[in-house]
Amino acid sequence: MKTHRIAPSLLSADFARLGEEVRTVIEAGADWIHFDVMDNHYVPNLTFGPMVCQALRKHSTVPIDVHLMVQPVDALAQAFAKAGADLVSFHPDATHHVDRTLQLIHGEGCKAGLVFNPAEPLDVLDWVLDKVDLILIMSVNPGFGGQSFIDSALRKVERARKLIDASGRDIRLEVDGGIKVDNIRRVADAGADTFVAGSAIFGQPDYKAVIEAMRRALA
Ligand code: DX5
Ligand code: ZN
Repeated sequence: MKTHRIAPSLLSADFARLGEEVRTVIEAGADWIHFDVMDNHYVPNLTFGPMVCQALRKHSTVPIDVHLMVQPVDALAQAFAKAGADLVSFHPDATHHVDRTLQLIHGEGCKAGLVFNPAEPLDVLDWVLDKVDLILIMSVNPGFGGQSFIDSALRKVERARKLIDASGRDIRLEVDGGIKVDNIRRVADAGADTFVAGSAIFGQPDYKAVIEAMRRALA
């Protein structure tokens, strides 16, 4: 099993102090910064675009993990790659040509990921597993922070872990939504190696205490 990565989601950060929040959470031990892009079309909420990502790039010494909840995908995926994203993930149902979108992201020198909503199967991976660097399993319906973890995601994580191991490829398995100190271990036991947490971290005064507690739970 690869080293665990904790990816705090900026969705629950103080939007009036984003640069400072990025620096503080990295100092507190964040491995990645998870950047939730919502367009009020694919999901019923609106967050930030590539210009904000570019502005935050210089505040981040760790990879920026862009989670696109937008439709259409291609133009924004390229814009985020140019804005300094290290990984760009999208929902396969939000684009007409999944394979082409993956190629577009790689063409910009970025890693590419596919995101699966709670009720979506992993079938598309049968055809593009050789082109993904990250599989992101949603354990809430996308659009909002602070929702409860949906347990069926664990079975999907187990299934994705089998696919990854059988492929022998270097693919990270990330889970997003409702992850807290008290359930992160179950998510890891199902096979995940990368954990998004928004409200669990930014909702507390001491980010370091939460990240350390998560690492202890994972140890
Ligand atoms: C939901 C987002 C998540 C969200 C997670 O659409 O993709 O990244 O911020 O927030 P919590 O950890 O609060 O469930
Ligand atoms: Zn996310």
